[in-house]
Amino acid sequence: MTENRQERQSAGRQAPEALRPGASIRPVRRVVRGQPTSDGAGVRLTRVIGTASLSDLDPFLMLDEFRSDQATDYIAGFPEHPHRGFETVTYMLVGRMRHGDNQGNTGLLQAGSAQWMTAGRGILHSEMPEQENGLMWGFQLWVNLPAKDKMTAPRYQDIPPDAIPTVARPNGVVVKVIAGRVGETEGAVRAVVTDPTYLDVKLPAGADFSQTVPTDHSAFVYVYEGMAVVGGENGTSVELGQLAVLGPGEVVAVATRAGKSAGLLIVAGRPLNEPIAKYGPFVMNTVDEIRQAIADFQAGRF
Ligand code: CO
Repeated sequence: MTENRQERQSAGRQAPEALRPGASIRPVRRVVRGQPTSDGAGVRLTRVIGTASLSDLDPFLMLDEFRSDQATDYIAGFPEHPHRGFETVTYMLVGRMRHGDNQGNTGLLQAGSAQWMTAGRGILHSEMPEQENGLMWGFQLWVNLPAKDKMTAPRYQDIPPDAIPTVARPNGVVVKVIAGRVGETEGAVRAVVTDPTYLDVKLPAGADFSQTVPTDHSAFVYVYEGMAVVGGENGTSVELGQLAVLGPGEVVAVATRAGKSAGLLIVAGRPLNEPIAKYGPFVMNTVDEIRQAIADFQAGRF
């Protein structure tokens, strides 16, 4: 991005008409690409947040995209493992995963469904593919909890595909509102402490979409299909598999060029500004709390 462009954007260019005149568009601060890795029992995936180049984006600790039509990449799944101190958000585009935990909860994560799991003080769960071939495609986002909520009771919001509100705009843009609010449409996931926005946005070629998010929230755009221009008319091209970290402003603006459609996630949330002590599936504030988590896990107290 050029110096000039940065200046124009931070000066607050005009937002589209549907929004308050003069609302400032969030500029792209950085663009990062995910890194191939494996997790669970050997599931191949792309880590986009939680890497050396983007360790976290407070309150977001991790973003993984899993996308493969090779069963060997996903069939081993994520056998039983613990979590404490944060939330895991699974959003499936294609495929089926079976979820189960040590408290007897079970659920099927199918194409178009979302699960917002507040691990809180601790759960032991598994996430296993319920298919032996074909495409498996989705995302897992980790959202941190503030100190006061880290030891809360575990909680699930399991959202089947038809319970995710969809907003269709006259320009052909279709938005699935997993969390947050688009116009009068409130998202499926409620009462999360970081007040998140999580939108799945499909744009046909030559279209645009703008979303107001609180100015103090961290925000990013991840392009999972096609390519998009992020940050207004003179914004930044964000390619397939790239994540744009957004700077301050009132409006997240995305658009597509002629002849090129896009599928992307717009995600925002209130930063916690607290120390992070992270050890595998435990995310606390201090090393002592991590030691306690390990001791509790080993003693079967989850
Ligand atoms: Co898990």
